[in-house]
Amino acid sequence: MKSKILSLLRERGDYVSGQELCERFGVSRTAVWKAIGQLKKEGFSIEAVQNRGYRLAQMEEVFGQHELESRMGTKWAGHPVAFFEALDSTNIRAKLEAERGAPEGTLVVADMQTAGRGRRGRGWSSPAGVNAYFTLILKPDFEPGKTSMLTLVMALAVAEGITETCGVEACIKWPNDIVIGGKKVCGMLTELSVQQEYIQHVVIGAGVNVGLQEFVPEIADTATCLERECGRKVPRAQLIANIMKAFETYYEKFLETLDFSELKRPYDERLVNCGREVRVMDPKGEYTGISKGINSTGELLVERPDGSETAVYAGEVSVRGIYGYV
Ligand code: BTN
Repeated sequence: MKSKILSLLRERGDYVSGQELCERFGVSRTAVWKAIGQLKKEGFSIEAVQNRGYRLAQMEEVFGQHELESRMGTKWAGHPVAFFEALDSTNIRAKLEAERGAPEGTLVVADMQTAGRGRRGRGWSSPAGVNAYFTLILKPDFEPGKTSMLTLVMALAVAEGITETCGVEACIKWPNDIVIGGKKVCGMLTELSVQQEYIQHVVIGAGVNVGLQEFVPEIADTATCLERECGRKVPRAQLIANIMKAFETYYEKFLETLDFSELKRPYDERLVNCGREVRVMDPKGEYTGISKGINSTGELLVERPDGSETAVYAGEVSVRGIYGYV
């Protein structure tokens, strides 16, 4: 109920009477008063004026369970939210929740991670109070081979959520890094649990650099954050809610065909390396070619110097720009 009160107060932008809150949520005056008291304790600035009711005075977000729930405008993606002040890793927690029966759409969010995980066994720096770390649980009913496309769906959603929230153009470096101005602002890690050829669950984790911060020397030249790029404060809960909204739309489209035929176009429009020379780091032998966008299964098409085209599968190789990160 607290999240519902919060969204109503925010939506109204004016006083809402105690009577209206009681009627809407079918609870007593005392219950409303208690809920308001708890929200205030969490840091929400709610004014109470006799004969007028309650008003949300400050609009700056208080990142946490209720802020996230009250901003989530989706049917299923991001429901329920499981928020933690600190976790080892939202991916680890999401896998645990999925094993315990958490429904599809459950979103695990943390303010900080003590063992944030990146791809290829690397770590993911996850300080408190500045960034967005979240993992979505899916329980799809298709063959495990299609899972790599889900990260591409999330990449599209994150890029769109960033543009929607911050007004800056976010691009995708195939398969799933999000870049702004040639620098990485978000990374994703998808993990799959399969039993006897069936998917038990998929968890898709994303870490978005949001607030102004110093990056460690190894990534200082290739990383950026949203607040540096858009020059203002970025509300993390709204960002996550916008990403979930975009994810829900794109994932439902993906499910219609179980491939990227419907999503290829919006994906290619955001593809930073489209039409550029790229180096494919194939363990069987590196090569250079021109990136031509993705095909309907999400592979990157690369035109080789002899004119032939190779479809590069995300799980096997990485692609770099020949002059740097993109
Ligand atoms: C990369 O190496 O680019 C992937 C980074 C993925 C980081 C996110 S943060 C939320 C989720 N939890 C983790 O432990 N990792 C992912």
